[in-house]
Amino acid sequence: MQVLQVKDLCKTYIINKRQNNVLVNVNFTIEQGEMTAVMGPSGSGKSTLLYSISGMDRPTAGRVVLGGRELTGLKEKELAKVRLNEMGFIFQQMHMLKNLTVMDNILLPAYQSGKKDRTQKEIDAYGISLMRRLGISEIATNDITEVSGGQLQRACICRSLMNRPQILFADEPTGALNRSASEEVMRVLNQLNQEGTTIMLVTHDMKVAAKCSRILYIVDGNIKGELAMGSLHSQETDDGEQTTDIGRLLRERERKLNHWLIEMGW
Ligand SMILES: Nc1ncnc2c1ncn2[C@@H]1O[C@H](COP(=O)(O)OP(=O)(O)OP(=O)(O)O)[C@@H](O)[C@H]1O
Ligand SMILES: [Mg+2]
Repeated sequence: MQVLQVKDLCKTYIINKRQNNVLVNVNFTIEQGEMTAVMGPSGSGKSTLLYSISGMDRPTAGRVVLGGRELTGLKEKELAKVRLNEMGFIFQQMHMLKNLTVMDNILLPAYQSGKKDRTQKEIDAYGISLMRRLGISEIATNDITEVSGGQLQRACICRSLMNRPQILFADEPTGALNRSASEEVMRVLNQLNQEGTTIMLVTHDMKVAAKCSRILYIVDGNIKGELAMGSLHSQETDDGEQTTDIGRLLRERERKLNHWLIEMGW
C-alpha cells in the first residue's frame, strides 16, 4: 500500500531577486513499511525535500499525497492537523520545550491533537510504554535540559510516535550523536520499522543508510538514483543464524551501498 506519493515536486527560493531552484521535479512513492534513506551532497536539497513533503514549507509546484489525501492545497490549519496527527518528526533542531519534563514533552502532541479517541489515562499509559520501550523511563521526570544527547533523541522519537503517525520523517537523526548513541537510535528506528512504521530519513552516514531498505540519492534537487537494499530484519531472519551473522550482514550491505555511492559520485 502506498503511504506517500510525491509528484513533480518543485521548490524555488528567491533571495535578493535571485531564483534558487532547490527541488526540480522530484518524483517518488513510499510504500507502507519501507525505511527510506535520502542521501546526497550538502546543499542538494535533502532537508528541503522533507520540509516540502511535510508541509513545514510550501512547495512551489507539484503534489504530495499522504494516505490517499492530497496535501498540497490544504489550508494551513488543516495541514497543521495532518502534521500533528499523521506525521512524526525527528529533526535536528528539536524544539523540545524547556521547563517541561521529558514526559510532558513526549505527551504534548497527544494533548494538542484535539482528537477525543483517547482518555488522559490512555495517553499517559501510551507515553509511559513508549519511554519504557526506548529505555528512558528513569529520566521521565527530568527536565528536558537534564538529559544526554542520545536520551534526548530517544525522547524525540517517543514524542514523534505519540499520535501513531502514518510516517516518520527524520532529518539526520544521528547527526549529532557519537557512534554508540547513534547505533542505539538506529536500533530503535529499525525495531519500529520492523513493527510496521514507515520511515523516511536523511543521513550522511553510510552505516545508518545501510540499515535502511531503500536509498534515494539526490543531486541538485533531483533524484539521481535509487538503490533497493531489502529490509534488514527480513535478511536477519532469513539468515537464521542471527546475532553472529549480523556483523557480516551489515558489512555486506555497507559494501554494496559504498559501491553504489561511488557510482553516484558521492
Ligand atoms: N529557508 C531557505 N531560504 C532560502 N534558501 C534555502 C532555505 N533553506 C534551504 N535553502 C537553500 O536550499 C539549498 C538546499 O538546502 P538543504 O538544506 O535542503 O540542503 P541539504 O541537502 O539538506 O544539505 P545538508 O546536507 O548540508 O543538510 C541550499 O542552497 C540552501 O541554501
Ligand atoms: Mg540538511
